[in-house]
Amino acid sequence: MTGGRGFIGSHLVDALVLQGHRVLVVDDLSTPAVAAPAEQATTVEFALLDVRERAGIQALLQDWRPDAVAHLAAIASVPRSIDEPALAHDVNLNGAFAALEAARIAGVRRFVFAGSAAVYGDEPPLPCDEAAPLAPVSPYAAQKAAGELLARAYRAAWGLQTVNLRFFNVFGERQQAGSPYSGVISSFVAGMLRRGNATIYGDGGQTRDFIYVGDVALALCAALLGPDPGPEPINVARGESTSIRKLYRTLARLIGVPDEPAFAAARAGDVRHSLATVARLRERLGVEATVSVEDGLRRVVDWETGQGS
Ligand code: UD1
Repeated sequence: MTGGRGFIGSHLVDALVLQGHRVLVVDDLSTPAVAAPAEQATTVEFALLDVRERAGIQALLQDWRPDAVAHLAAIASVPRSIDEPALAHDVNLNGAFAALEAARIAGVRRFVFAGSAAVYGDEPPLPCDEAAPLAPVSPYAAQKAAGELLARAYRAAWGLQTVNLRFFNVFGERQQAGSPYSGVISSFVAGMLRRGNATIYGDGGQTRDFIYVGDVALALCAALLGPDPGPEPINVARGESTSIRKLYRTLARLIGVPDEPAFAAARAGDVRHSLATVARLRERLGVEATVSVEDGLRRVVDWETGQGS
């Protein structure tokens, strides 16, 4: 797995170890993520490597001969792809190429690409099914769209079973806070715990389809290990809409601070509403998100307060 020390990757390590699999984590430790508890397991091996190191990744996979590869390593942020376009381009495009090439050469059976709902652009249909056109409006979205296309080409040209997942708003324990690129939930939790409140950009009426990271790990496991779901992209979401205002209210209640957000100007280019159809997730991967947004938020709050922040 590339990016196994990232937020989503660390949860995938936990899920795979729990299921008794041997796991190779490839990561350059460029995100200050917390290692998965399961990384201590003897069945997990760690390789410190930049995903763009084609020869290095190739050698590792030749040696390991994994059955399946999850490619999660990326500059996983729309705003960061705008602030640092060359880096995002290099890591997201050349990293995907390096991982696909290494998998092809090593005779890997299944390859799962971590794509994004960002490919639907800033006015996605509501709800958004996978047949909606690609409409990237950021370098990040274009890189994720290109990665999907490349993965599809590897299936057509070489029979590598590539699976394209499109993640919506993923949240959970170990998500990074305190960076301008942090997701809304980690920012809200960090603000509420430190200062008693946090900032809503815009009026808070914007909505997102949040999915708990443990459910995303289950979708990844099914994509890696289950029957081949085919080449078409698959939304990974709950199929449920939550407003940012409601999210704030719920977190304020769970943490025990007043429901008094600060408001700031809406973020440029912010999508107003984002909501997925999840029929394909259920039909092709047999996965349905099981953790409600509120239960997931409770886990995040417990984890953050348990960490003593
Ligand atoms: C998310 C993903 C991104 C993905 C995109 C696809 C995360 C962290 N980002 O972006 O990788 O490509 O979906 O559509 O999951 N907000 C506040 N206050 C804050 C922070 C954010 O009000 O302190 C608001 C934002 O303005 C936005 C909403 O919360 O309206 C969600 O923001 P964010 O968590 O950054 O995710 P997306 O922009 O949806």
